[in-house]
Formats: sequence, C-alpha cells, structure tokens
Amino acid sequence: MESLPTGIEGLDVLTDGGYPKGKSIMITGPPGSGKTILGLHFLHRNCVEGRKCMMVLTRELTEDVISQSRSLGIDLEPFLKNGQLGIRNIFEDKINKLKSVSKFGKGLCAVDMDIIEYLTSMSSEVDVVVIDNIGVMAIDHDIREFADQFSSISIILMKNGCTSLFIMDEDSYELTHRLTGYMVFGLIRLTVQENLSAGRTRQYLYIEKMRNKPLPVKYSLFDITPEGIRIINGMR
Ligand SMILES: Nc1ncnc2c1ncn2[C@@H]1O[C@H](COP(=O)(O)OP(=O)(O)OP(=O)(O)O)[C@@H](O)[C@H]1O
Ligand SMILES: [Mg+2]
Repeated sequence: MESLPTGIEGLDVLTDGGYPKGKSIMITGPPGSGKTILGLHFLHRNCVEGRKCMMVLTRELTEDVISQSRSLGIDLEPFLKNGQLGIRNIFEDKINKLKSVSKFGKGLCAVDMDIIEYLTSMSSEVDVVVIDNIGVMAIDHDIREFADQFSSISIILMKNGCTSLFIMDEDSYELTHRLTGYMVFGLIRLTVQENLSAGRTRQYLYIEKMRNKPLPVKYSLFDITPEGIRIINGMR
C-alpha cells in the first residue's frame, strides 16, 4: 500500500513507510502529549516534498501554531506564504463573524461556518489535510449528529483522495464512546505515564490499528525535543 511520510523518521519505520495514502488516521491523547506536533511534522515533510497541504484549526490561533512549528525547526510559514499550505481557522473566523454581526443582535449560531463547509469547497488538488482539533464537534452535537458529521467529513476527504490526520483530544474521544476509532483507517494514541516520585514522565505512542498493514511493533517510547518528536524504541 502506498504511503505518505509522517515527517518523523522513527514513525515511518513503525508504520512501515508512513500513513496510508488517501486514508484517514486519527490521533488522540491528553493535553500536551504531542498531537499538534505530530500534525506539524506531517505537514512540514509533505510541503517539503511538494504536496499541497491544508490545516484546519478549531481552537488555536494560527500565529501560535506557526510559531510552534518554527520553534521546532519545522517552520511552516514559508509554505503558507508560497501557497503550498493553506490554513483555515474556524475559531478565528467565528470570532470575526461574531464581531461583525453582534451589533445586529445575532449570536454564534448565526455564524456556524463548519468544517464540512470548508472541506466541500476545498480544492481537489489538496493531498494532505490535518484537522486540529475535531473534538470540538463532540461538544456542539449529540452523539448521533456527531457520528454523522464525522463520517461526512471522512467521506469528503476520502473521495478527494486526501491523506488526513484527525486530531482529537482524549476527553472528546472518550465522551463520544471512542466511536471515531471504528470510523477511521488508522488510530494512534499518545499516552503519558507519570512517575511523580521519580519526578519524570514517559511518553508512549501506541499504534492501535492501521488497516492493511501488519505492524509488528505497536508501542514506542518517544520524546518531544527542540527538534520535535523523536521515537526512542519500539516494543511489541
Ligand atoms: N520547541 C519545543 N521544544 C521542546 N518541547 C516542546 C517544544 N514545543 C512544544 N514542546 C512540548 O510539547 C508539548 C505540546 O505538544 P502539543 O502542542 O503537540 O500537544 P497537544 O497534544 O497538541 O496538546 P493540546 O491537547 O493542549 O492541544 C508541550 O507541553 C511541550 O512540553
Ligand atoms: Mg494541540
């Protein structure tokens, strides 16, 4: 199966060549576990290799994400400037719209520009999509609506041939009864093991599933360094 590079050398090895091309992979984990950084590596590497990339942000400011990429030596700004990377910031758009309509007495519901609307109008030339964080949809909708929205998004991206990362915070993942795990091609979970008495934490990456790829090593220790995520070793 053809794959796209993850942007992390050790993870390319663990995934037998990268993320399956044209498929959706879900990334989940607790706050600060490295989900966004995983997405930044993927975008940066594929921009370097000349693919057209898109990032959809729902909770963070674009400038914060760009400066995070710069601090890790995987600066996305040049690609944003030359048009190879597009960033759609749903959060900022909503706030701006709210500001402009509030004087007419309308609320947030009147400015519901959702992810589906963005993706439907997206160019068919986009190869790579990262949505960070799709968990906000779990708060806006009940479980059935959420499942419908999530599968619509998956289908739009799959039909477009996009290789996609859905980043979802762990709380939303649990809140939705982990149901999105069944709806994606691959599932990677980041976990943090705290050892308070020793004053240190260990971070693990767990490839819970990757359809069509027999992966001998599923667990791996990793570090977040000033150069980003480094896979330390693999465990069966
Ligand atoms: N330049 C850097 N050098 C070293 N470590 C960094 C650097 N930038 C971020 N980190 C580490 O990475 C962590 C954040 O990673 P990331 O933003 O990917 O987490 P996340 O899982 O997306 O969190 P959230 O759920 O809050 O969005 C920080 O807590 C910090 O410890
Ligand atoms: Mg994040």
